[in-house]
Amino acid sequence: MKRPVITILGLCGRSVFLQVNHFHHPGETLHASAIHIEPGGKGYNQAVAAARLGAEVHFIAACGEDEDGKACSEFLLEEGIAPHIQIVKDATAFASILTDENGENQVTVFRGAADLLSADFVSSLEPVFEKSDIVLLNFEVPSAANEAAIVLAEKHGVKLILNPAPAHLCSKEFINHFFCITPNESESKMIGTETDREVITLGSKGALVKDRGVETYLPAVKVTAKDTTGAGDCFTAALAVAIGEGKDLLEAARFAQKAAAKSVEQAFVMPSLPYRYMLE
Ligand code: ATP
Ligand code: RIB
Repeated sequence: MKRPVITILGLCGRSVFLQVNHFHHPGETLHASAIHIEPGGKGYNQAVAAARLGAEVHFIAACGEDEDGKACSEFLLEEGIAPHIQIVKDATAFASILTDENGENQVTVFRGAADLLSADFVSSLEPVFEKSDIVLLNFEVPSAANEAAIVLAEKHGVKLILNPAPAHLCSKEFINHFFCITPNESESKMIGTETDREVITLGSKGALVKDRGVETYLPAVKVTAKDTTGAGDCFTAALAVAIGEGKDLLEAARFAQKAAAKSVEQAFVMPSLPYRYMLE
């Protein structure tokens, strides 16, 4: 089987998880029962998941000249991922993540340096795009950086996949660049336009695969969920790996469901992203 080369743009920074019994009522002060700190960001999580599932991964991001930025790059190298980091004059991104006793999460992201990822920096990485099988994008980076990636992917005939999160209204013209998109239920509504291939993730209910007019519902793999943070990232990464290996959309979505279900069984994101052998 071919080892796919996947290039991902994204935000990266420090994620701080606080465990609470329930989410805040307005004005309420809560005590957290546990704290956990790890590197994260949607594209970053996807990069680590894709590498653990067997892909050669290139990750493109902007960081500040600080300890958090350095830690993000070091962790990528430990995971066997090639980091392409633009150093900019702002603090590296930061995310605060509350998880409740049901494994649900509430995330607040300071984008900082991630907002300064430039189209010029992305364009300077043409050789990376040239050797890629898949380019995976999301909305945690500036649209100009994504546009530059789209230009290079299309120039070199590389399949584009979009995880449209955090979601916003998209034009049909923009969405048409992508082989497929992977919104969750609310993101799918916010995009406001139809596309040929879409996999809508439905949390514990599974996923809905829409492939050129044919809709197939895939129930979730039954597991006991401990922490669903990053489940969508794991799903998108696994889908991209499977498509890069030549699987069709339905087969790829089945593989993604297995990977994402595994990821919700463990707390936090980095410790929960599965390795390929765990799915076989
Ligand atoms: P996040 O933003 O937290 O990464 P998301 O909203 O993008 O998540 P979800 O739709 O919640 O993504 O979940 C993605 C996939 O993860 C689902 O399609 C499903 O395959 C799997 N998943 C999520 N929750 C569960 C669960 N409780 N049991 C089994 N699988 C789950
Ligand atoms: O999708 C979950 C991720 O989104 C978290 O890891 C957090 O970093 C946010 O960017």
